[in-house]
Amino acid sequence: VQRVLTGIKPTGTPHLGNYAGALRPAIEASRRKDVESFYFLADYHALIQTTDPLRVVRSTLEITATWLAAGLDTSHVALYRQSDIPEIPELTWLLTCMTGKGLLNRAHAYKAAVDKNTEAGEDPDAGVTMGLYMYPVLMAADILMFKSNSVPVGRDQIQHIEMARDIATRFNHQYGEHFVLPEAAIDENVATLPGLDGRKMSKSYDNVIPLFAAPAELKKLIFSMVTDSRKPGEPKDTEGSALFQLYQAFADEAQTAAMRQAFADGIAWGDAKQVLFEQIDRSLAPMRERYHALIAEPAKIEACLREGAERARAIATPFLAELRHAVGLRRLD
Ligand code: TYM
Repeated sequence: VQRVLTGIKPTGTPHLGNYAGALRPAIEASRRKDVESFYFLADYHALIQTTDPLRVVRSTLEITATWLAAGLDTSHVALYRQSDIPEIPELTWLLTCMTGKGLLNRAHAYKAAVDKNTEAGEDPDAGVTMGLYMYPVLMAADILMFKSNSVPVGRDQIQHIEMARDIATRFNHQYGEHFVLPEAAIDENVATLPGLDGRKMSKSYDNVIPLFAAPAELKKLIFSMVTDSRKPGEPKDTEGSALFQLYQAFADEAQTAAMRQAFADGIAWGDAKQVLFEQIDRSLAPMRERYHALIAEPAKIEACLREGAERARAIATPFLAELRHAVGLRRLD
């Protein structure tokens, strides 16, 4: 069997990029009979980004409800909260001892922080926590704990998965073949969903479209999207058009081909936005309804996460015992 695993940080309200880039492909993958799936709320990772406890709690509820509303079958998939698995931080330490500092110096997120500080003439590590620095090791523990072969993620996570492979390789070389080497699974069509301003849709760019925005808000956001100055009747480029890419992520092939033609025929931007709005609204409406029903019952969501944690721990507990033994953390008798 294939093991598929992915995580989402509970730092805010889920957006279209999280859905198209992570949830939707992960749910599709989980429907295959020969697949075992592990999907989780990366709440330890969230602490690196926010110090607002209520935000983490609220977001955990919202993202779990989103998984369920999007059709995840929890009788077949372990859906859990990272912090319910105490074996994860313990494995993180074992991996930390196998991780070169130089490897972490090259991590994109850490380097970006250092570059920004350097440009501003500040201490290179100003504001950088050890949490940010260690981020890839914690993520490697998430992945390696469950012997995942396939990790469906957006493009921004590829480096992290390569690092997990590096760390696993070094551990295996030192202590024997305990870990499976994971691979990133990227859906080429939606590898990076653009946001309102054409950059990657991301909370940190403040350009997101919330997945469950009410229709009026959804419409307003879509109409605020940045487009070029081409007039109605002038052919438009699909290449590099955020509007087109968003449409493609929520349309089938025939609809996408029709939109491509409309661009070539010079559809007015306002009309294109209207079509995009209707398409997204239509494809999300049933899920939105389920979501609002679910979010009103936090106790049910909590029970679901508990059950997922039990399943995940049934694997993590014996595997960690094996690893402890392998590195020499053993009883004496
Ligand atoms: P996070 O919470 O930032 O994002 C969750 C997932 O959504 C994808 N994503 C996007 N995909 C397409 N277009 C976008 N605009 C877009 N924005 C976000 C991300 O690539 C990601 O797949 N480090 C991870 C969480 C994590 C994890 C893991 C993932 C922790 N441990 C183990 C996989 C395996 C993160 O910050 O995702």
